[in-house]
Amino acid sequence: MSLIQLLGVILGKAATFFSLSIVIIAVVLKGFDDPEPTHLARMTSDIKTLEENFRQKNKSCFILGASGETGKVLLQELQRRNIFAKITLIGRRQLNFEGKAGENLVQEVVDFEKLEDYAAAFQGHDVGYCCLGTTRAKAGTEGFIRVDHDYVLKSAELAKAGGCEQFHLESSRGADKSSNFLYLKVKGQVEADIQALDFDRYAVYRPGVLLVERQESRAGEWLVRKFFGAVSAVCSTSMSVPIQTVAKAMVSNTVLQSEHKFEILENKAISTLGKSDTK
Ligand SMILES: NC(=O)c1ccc[n+]([C@@H]2O[C@H](COP(=O)([O-])OP(=O)(O)OC[C@H]3O[C@@H](n4cnc5c(N)ncnc54)[C@H](OP(=O)(O)O)[C@@H]3O)[C@@H](O)[C@H]2O)c1
Repeated sequence: MSLIQLLGVILGKAATFFSLSIVIIAVVLKGFDDPEPTHLARMTSDIKTLEENFRQKNKSCFILGASGETGKVLLQELQRRNIFAKITLIGRRQLNFEGKAGENLVQEVVDFEKLEDYAAAFQGHDVGYCCLGTTRAKAGTEGFIRVDHDYVLKSAELAKAGGCEQFHLESSRGADKSSNFLYLKVKGQVEADIQALDFDRYAVYRPGVLLVERQESRAGEWLVRKFFGAVSAVCSTSMSVPIQTVAKAMVSNTVLQSEHKFEILENKAISTLGKSDTK
């Protein structure tokens, strides 16, 4: 057997082994899945009517983090479903939009280190969405806490003071203020601190790994995403979710008449709600 033939055989075996491993891992992870939230599936059966009712109320919203991966898709989803009379983007820089994408958008550029000075930007919105966040790798430990906790909490406080009724926070699977892991602890702490603000409605989304072709390159995350992307192609689990599904879930949940003032949507609930709008 020539060297090339031998290489072909080895590569073929490696590919078979890799595919089999992915299938086995997918099946094992499926066994650890959160239970299917059937009540959400029932609630979303009439989403179009709920959307229409909501639209007629001429409400306004703001998005924090609209330049990020989730925020971008959330904005597109809000524009597509057209449930708000006005959308305001609050961020640290002006964003450029091509053609119709920028129509009817208001942009407020703020300095997050001096948010008190920008209280006016947070006034008069009915609903707030927060997809803000950074990483320790990018901002260091202190910077991460400032963005993912301090900026997020201060924004929520100003929004509440400005009359905002609903607040939707993109957090993370495993968020827990008692965790020993800084990331999960900070996420859990900000969730709890915002809950204390007592919004009329407060929804926390805890997605697993976000499946997205990220513009900025994060090598470690890329590998994790590829792995979970392959696993979820075999069967969807509670460990990951496409970014579009998160955005759809946030919009669908906004129009639902939930009896709960406070709710946490784990990855499975996000997947169920995110499938409620099939248009
Ligand atoms: N990646 C995952 O797999 C994963 C999983 C679960 C949950 N999450 C959480 O989901 C949320 C959204 O994630 P994503 O991946 O969509 O976010 P992303 O693409 O990294 O975008 C983050 C957003 O936050 C803004 N931001 C970052 N640092 C800032 C700073 N110092 N001052 C002001 N704004 C700042 C960014 O603005 P600029 O564009 O100006 O930088 C951008 O709009 C985050 O809270 C993240 O922790 C992520």
